[in-house]
Amino acid sequence: MFRVVTVTDQVQRRTPKQAKTSSVFKKIVMAVSGILMLLFLIAHMIGNLHVFQGAQSFNHYSEWLRTVGEPALPPRTLLTVIEIGLVVSVVAHMWAAISLWRQAKRARPQSYVTKKSVAQSYASRTMRWGGVIIALFIVYHILDLTFGVANPDGTDSTPYDRLVASFQNPAATIVYVVALILLGMHLRHGIWSATQTLGQSNRRRERTVNAFAIAFATLLIAGYLVVPAAVVFGLVD
Ligand code: HEM
Repeated sequence: MFRVVTVTDQVQRRTPKQAKTSSVFKKIVMAVSGILMLLFLIAHMIGNLHVFQGAQSFNHYSEWLRTVGEPALPPRTLLTVIEIGLVVSVVAHMWAAISLWRQAKRARPQSYVTKKSVAQSYASRTMRWGGVIIALFIVYHILDLTFGVANPDGTDSTPYDRLVASFQNPAATIVYVVALILLGMHLRHGIWSATQTLGQSNRRRERTVNAFAIAFATLLIAGYLVVPAAVVFGLVD
């Protein structure tokens, strides 16, 4: 009838119960904070597409983000909620990633030698460096488009003008494109890892999840990339 197959290796069997529980907790923290950031990324990508409706529409959208709910709610309520949610998610995601990495290192001081494991450690190295670069990009991005201090058009311009000025600058555009490609790779691997954590897997399910992760990450990043592309090709100016 039913056969339950449990995959356990030597290292897992020897792991103390407490360490296993806390590593499951950390993986849940990673997944939940990752999902919250993903929801923001979907909304932000759709919001950015207002740029195709022209300067007035885009600036109006930016103003709406600051005034939604007024006068019942104070100004910037929505933005403040988003900002707090994002900061908590970023900190939680990084804390869980660093402590999981340390835990894995303690459990396996000798590095892997087999071919598959080299690929695995390559993926987690790219995740770590990718994550750090994406975090640095977010700081630059906020200084560029939210505050305008790192923007060619400066702080007195409108959000639309700042966006266009950034993507008319080749160096800034390259930074955005590289960061977005890294973000796409990070998301693909993150979605795949999260589904591995959530349950036992089989090959067919793994292939479906992998295809979904690739399609999702590609679509999301393409939605972001059309904005700099439109400025570079003169469709938006
Ligand atoms: C082509 C890509 C992108 C464009 C054109 C873009 C555009 C913008 C603009 C115009 C703002 C300022 C909004 C305003 O002040 O009214 C903004 C803010 C922001 N963006 Fe992006 N963005 C892009 C990619 C990203 C990515 C990939 C991330 C995250 C990984 C991100 C995270 C943020 C955050 C956290 C804010 C600050 C939100 C706030 O004011 O609290 N953006 N973006």
